[in-house]
Amino acid sequence: MDSFRVGIVGCGTVGGGVVELLLENGETIESRIGRKIEIAFVVDRDTEKPKKLGIPAEKIFADAFKALDVECDAVVELVGGTTFAKEIVKTAIKRKRHVVTANKALLADYGEEIFKLAKENGVSVKFEASVGGGIPVIKAVREGLVGNRIKAIYGIINGTANFILTEMSQRGISFEEALREAQEKGYAEADPSLDVDGYDAAHKIAILSSLAFCRWIRTEEVFVDGIRDLTPLDVEIAKEEFGYAVKLLAISKVSGGEVEVRVHPTMIPEENILSSVNDVFNACLVEGDFVGRTLYYGKGAGRRPTASAVVSDIVDLALGNTFSVPECLFKENREIKLKKPNEF
Ligand code: HSE
Repeated sequence: MDSFRVGIVGCGTVGGGVVELLLENGETIESRIGRKIEIAFVVDRDTEKPKKLGIPAEKIFADAFKALDVECDAVVELVGGTTFAKEIVKTAIKRKRHVVTANKALLADYGEEIFKLAKENGVSVKFEASVGGGIPVIKAVREGLVGNRIKAIYGIINGTANFILTEMSQRGISFEEALREAQEKGYAEADPSLDVDGYDAAHKIAILSSLAFCRWIRTEEVFVDGIRDLTPLDVEIAKEEFGYAVKLLAISKVSGGEVEVRVHPTMIPEENILSSVNDVFNACLVEGDFVGRTLYYGKGAGRRPTASAVVSDIVDLALGNTFSVPECLFKENREIKLKKPNEF
């Protein structure tokens, strides 16, 4: 079988990780799926970055739009943000290339437009790395639990916030110091206020909820409160005096035909398994009507876990699994109403 050719746009933390993974584990992947994944091109403004990872000069581009002239099967967008990334994604789709992206902000804000465009052009947009870092939670909600009506999702889905809260609780360090460490470890967004003010988790729960409830849910429809104002003392009192762990929790649940979607610091009792999710780890508890409660756990941010999720999408496409979002999202859903944040 021919190789599956991917073009990678963005060779930063995650893009660099994807290049490393494909170079390091390429033969293992080929032996498993019976098809070679070939890097067609890598784009970065700093062309030294892909060069240092061993990409030959003729496959390195500084201009993404020029790179899109190179023949390939899928374009992997890893630049982040919602302006340039949106243009790249839409251009790739119009040129009939599949797209893989980790860009939760882009999908939470423009998912409806992007998936519709992909459908019109007969290509797929895959986005496993957009939620939960290395945990295959998108695939679980979209495919593994497809036979269920989803009742609720409870997620610790921002690694940076969870790292900060864990450090504040276990080492008693300040919010600012813990944030600095999260940034040094490459967990935080380019704009870390997205992490600490809850908007990154809101993007992610909007994506998961759209898949789960067959209704586009946008970030502005999510109630959001972050962790910026919490002190080490708040976290310590919750733990020592009441036996609670403070977590930035994303919640999406249905009751009485209405779905409510929110993100805020939550006191979780010690006996609840989510209370022991620490450090950069993420966990998602998803409840379906037939399966009951299921739990997904793993590293929610960082170069290698996120690269692992991106590569799982590339492999899916190479195997011909183009399932992207449920068909019902393209029809108006009158079944489920969304509670507005001020109605909670
Ligand atoms: N900044 C994000 C986080 C990266 O900390 O979870 C992974 O989406």
